[in-house]
Amino acid sequence: MEETKTQILIIDLGSQYTEVIRRSLRYLGFKSVILAPEKSLEWIENNTPKGIILSGGSASVYDLDAPKIPKKILDFGIPILGICFGMQWLAYESDKSAIEKVKEGKSYGPVEINFNQNNKSALFENLKEQINAWSSHGDSVGKAPKDFLITATSKEGSVIEAMECVEKRLYAVQFHPEVEQTEDENIILNNFAGEICECVKDYSKKDLIREIEENTKKLLGTGVAIIGVSGGVDSTTLASILAPKLKDQLKAFFIDTGGMRKGEIEKVKEIAVKAAINLQIIDKYKEKFIREVGKTTDAEEKRAKFRAVYGEVFQEVAKSFKATHMIQGTLATDLIESGSAGNSALIKTHHNVDLNLGLKEISPLNDLFKFEVRELAREFGLEELVSKRQPFPGPGLYLRVIGVPVTEELLEIVREADHEVTEILKKHGIYDKISQTIVALLGVKTVGVKGDGRVYGYTLVVRTVETADFMTVKGFYLTPEICEEISSALVKHPKIVRVMYDWTSKPPATTEFE
Ligand code: XMP
Repeated sequence: MEETKTQILIIDLGSQYTEVIRRSLRYLGFKSVILAPEKSLEWIENNTPKGIILSGGSASVYDLDAPKIPKKILDFGIPILGICFGMQWLAYESDKSAIEKVKEGKSYGPVEINFNQNNKSALFENLKEQINAWSSHGDSVGKAPKDFLITATSKEGSVIEAMECVEKRLYAVQFHPEVEQTEDENIILNNFAGEICECVKDYSKKDLIREIEENTKKLLGTGVAIIGVSGGVDSTTLASILAPKLKDQLKAFFIDTGGMRKGEIEKVKEIAVKAAINLQIIDKYKEKFIREVGKTTDAEEKRAKFRAVYGEVFQEVAKSFKATHMIQGTLATDLIESGSAGNSALIKTHHNVDLNLGLKEISPLNDLFKFEVRELAREFGLEELVSKRQPFPGPGLYLRVIGVPVTEELLEIVREADHEVTEILKKHGIYDKISQTIVALLGVKTVGVKGDGRVYGYTLVVRTVETADFMTVKGFYLTPEICEEISSALVKHPKIVRVMYDWTSKPPATTEFE
């Protein structure tokens, strides 16, 4: 079968959202590639894309170390969409006095975008006259360069939110059309790729599955690969995509870290049978995890320790299988937030990124997002068991005992509490509507009263969020009745005196507490 053609080049200028642009295009049916600015020119010359997108980024055009986009990209006549920093670069290159340097810190958060009804842009076709969008920038375009028309402004008209020069096929937006907080449902990217660049919608899930199988097989050659299957969407879907193709070359196993949810291991076994994965359960390292990871209370140190122990255990297991490669279900989000993707900044260390075990690593899902993996799971008939389960981080409940050393007892408290909250949410028919539910124990002790006695105990916090891709999340608000029911159930534990609810959005909070 012929390979789907890459139609759009995304030049990565350091935005946290670069992979999100690629995902949105894939969702719309357009295949794209992300490249660093210095690699872009040669690629354009050899591949002639139908469109170019300049991602956002945290630099200022005045910074000496700002990404160096080759000016020659402007000479091909290929349509270019500049987002955020990308817009500022386009403006600056056309008129060196166009950029107003930031005066009072960054503008960050939702903005109301008003489309110019006198200069209607093809980019905003099929959108309302006004939308709410997500914006994050320091500098801004103070005046549109000659030849450019202003096509959108902020509510008060003080910020130029979009401009274009149709003759030169240059389009620019200050806000981020790719993120879900921008209420355009991908219409802007669809207009750019489909209408302005005339790209063909020819990229389907089947193409994606075939690419995953073929690329993995090519990288593995005649080697033996191990894959840690957690029972979560990512690793289970990946193992079931690859098991028929790799056969005996694939060794799938599950490591019990002691940080699993209630009933998890039984569930994982059941899923493996349904997904036709020959899975080995390895439980002899549980105490080692609790002993070594439990000691630290600092979030990053804990993740680093978990990663170290996980790495050690993985290595022993790999040796026993005589493995040459390891296959990982790492997603784009993991790489972006570990700072491993393109130019984006480190937010959290993930336990399974860049483990350096002396094995060759293959990460076939590393430019996919959660909802896409869920769609692939559906293609494999794993719908009921896998795709509807809420995600759970690799370090598991270790990340949900906050501020105190993690012990078996505290893990058990959060494990039970997590189970009780899940049951209550399911009973009320809302569990499936929530993207992720997190129940964590806060190690700060506070005073409570139970029966006639004073109790000096812990707090449990319940966090329910909704999102499509976990790059950004918003709170999923529970009704007072459900909160009351959850609180009453959780404070039955003698060491729990309070229950709190956390609906802070991401950003600024992350989904997990650590
Ligand atoms: P954050 O907290 O970064 O979480 O907003 C985004 C999503 O990623 C999950 N997560 C992890 N998954 N290993 C994983 O496999 C990890 O170390 C990890 N940390 C966070 C988190 O549960 C949420 O779904």
